[in-house]
Amino acid sequence: MASGAGSNFEALVHACGDGTLPAEVALLVVNNPGCGAQQRAEHLGVPWRLLDHRLFASRELLDQALAQAFQDVQVDLVVMAGWMRIVTAELIQAFPDRLLNIHPSLLPSFRGARAIEQALAAGVTLTGCTAHLVREEVDSGPILVQAAVPIAMDDTRETLAQRIHHQEHRIVPLAVQLAAQRLGLLTPAQG
Ligand code: GAR
Repeated sequence: MASGAGSNFEALVHACGDGTLPAEVALLVVNNPGCGAQQRAEHLGVPWRLLDHRLFASRELLDQALAQAFQDVQVDLVVMAGWMRIVTAELIQAFPDRLLNIHPSLLPSFRGARAIEQALAAGVTLTGCTAHLVREEVDSGPILVQAAVPIAMDDTRETLAQRIHHQEHRIVPLAVQLAAQRLGLLTPAQG
């Protein structure tokens, strides 16, 4: 699931393609027509679907459609790779312990949509990213992997975001592997 540029989606596809992760990205769902993630999927030859949140009367109805889309292709895990919508029980309960999120801070610090800006405004010298299982409380849930990113004095949102992204691309495939191992979908020796 992706809403924007889709660099984490692409990192996952590459991890599957180069054998880092013994898995396959079966489907990308985007909510913003023509977004970077959609373009990357076209380029990489990954099937994609558009579920535009503007066309659904409620979050629950969108999430029902998302769950159905993933059930249609029988996926084992779902990754919110830059999905900028709050998800509801409709999706979370359809994939118990199988729905992952990537967030650009060291949770539980700086929850919400503007985590990088919050870290800069707070003046902390260390931030990072977190891959976790999704629960109904936003940006909560069992943590799978975290990576720390130091903040430099002259960092802007863009320079910091770039270094966080670099770490996200490393930990997202690792988080998928750990989640799959926890579910018995992969043995510890695999991946
Ligand atoms: C990532 O930094 C991800 O952590 C963040 O959106 C970005 C998507 O980048 N997600 C959130 O902020 C969720 N609250 P990408 O589209 O290049 O993968």
